[in-house]
Amino acid sequence: MDSALVVGGTRFIGRHLVSDLVENGYDVTIFNRGNHENPFEGDESVRRIEGDRKDDGALRRAKAAAEPDAVFDCVAYQPKDVVSATEIFADVDAYVYISSGAAYGAEEIPKREGVTELCPCSDDQLTDDSSESYGPRKAEGDRVVFDAATRGVNAMSVRPTIVYGPYDYTERLDYWLNRVENYDRVVVPGDGTNIWHRAYVEDVASAMRVVAEEGEAGEAYNVGDRRVLTLEETVRTIADAMGTDVEVVHAGERELAAAGLSPDDFVLYREYPHVLDTNKLAALGWDSTPIEEAMARTVEEHRRSDRDGSEHDPGRDAEESVLSILDTL
Ligand SMILES: NC(=O)c1ccc[n+]([C@@H]2O[C@H](COP(=O)([O-])OP(=O)(O)OC[C@H]3O[C@@H](n4cnc5c(N)ncnc54)[C@H](OP(=O)(O)O)[C@@H]3O)[C@@H](O)[C@H]2O)c1
Repeated sequence: MDSALVVGGTRFIGRHLVSDLVENGYDVTIFNRGNHENPFEGDESVRRIEGDRKDDGALRRAKAAAEPDAVFDCVAYQPKDVVSATEIFADVDAYVYISSGAAYGAEEIPKREGVTELCPCSDDQLTDDSSESYGPRKAEGDRVVFDAATRGVNAMSVRPTIVYGPYDYTERLDYWLNRVENYDRVVVPGDGTNIWHRAYVEDVASAMRVVAEEGEAGEAYNVGDRRVLTLEETVRTIADAMGTDVEVVHAGERELAAAGLSPDDFVLYREYPHVLDTNKLAALGWDSTPIEEAMARTVEEHRRSDRDGSEHDPGRDAEESVLSILDTL
């Protein structure tokens, strides 16, 4: 495969994917509406076609212009997007749809492709765009991929868990990066052992390429860091990457409640562990970046950015009250 069309490509996962594809010798075309700045502007190895992926005619024209061997779909949020794409790109060598770990509909550890149940998707949810129906819509997209493969389409799906790394506009990890950077004492809900598996963005990018090159049609592949960190380990890994030291302060439900907080007010806290089995992807020859290296690159870019994760902030004043309550115990 020599040429790739990336639907999206300018913000986070797609942006890293474009860089990964260029580094691996692909001729890359990105397709997007032009609402976000193009980081590849002026880069001759990345061509851009303007259009809306909701417009099948525009997707067809992009296909005719780019003549892609592989298509990477970063912007399929509704199952009908995957229906259109698997029809339009039915004859390419590989169509890779970004699904999500949120597609899993059962809580078990770890969540495994083909074993753990996927979310059902009701008729109302099919066309919805709320965050509540995100998992069901992603799961339905996976079913569209599986169905297309039965008709001979080389369609595959990747399911990343929560993604972090440079240019992460969701700012979820930025909240913790900001806390460690600016405070000596960091409140961690619970006993610090809760787990929400994450995936380093460069590894999600390489996973998409590896799946296109080595994956099997009709299959889904989980993506996540090979080493899974607890929330406390995350804070300590950030501190190491920043060359600093923090005191991790555990706060149980009762102490948090006294300050009007609950564990769920803390981003990346999840009571039941969310862990994706990544062995199927690793069997294709993929591996993840060592966690310390991934965090060092994340910290370096975070420091250059103006992201602070404040949209996820439960309120430092409330946290200070928790700290004083704990100090008096
Ligand atoms: N972040 C996570 O933790 C996570 C986890 C699992 C799965 N995912 C999945 O990853 C994907 C998102 O990746 P990303 O945002 O990082 O990718 P990205 O490809 O870097 O950025 C999104 C791109 O899509 C373009 N776009 C948006 N709407 C469009 C439309 N209607 N037509 C054409 N282009 C459009 C945007 O540019 P314009 O606005 O200029 O068009 C932008 O280039 C989603 O499918 C999401 O479900 C994310």
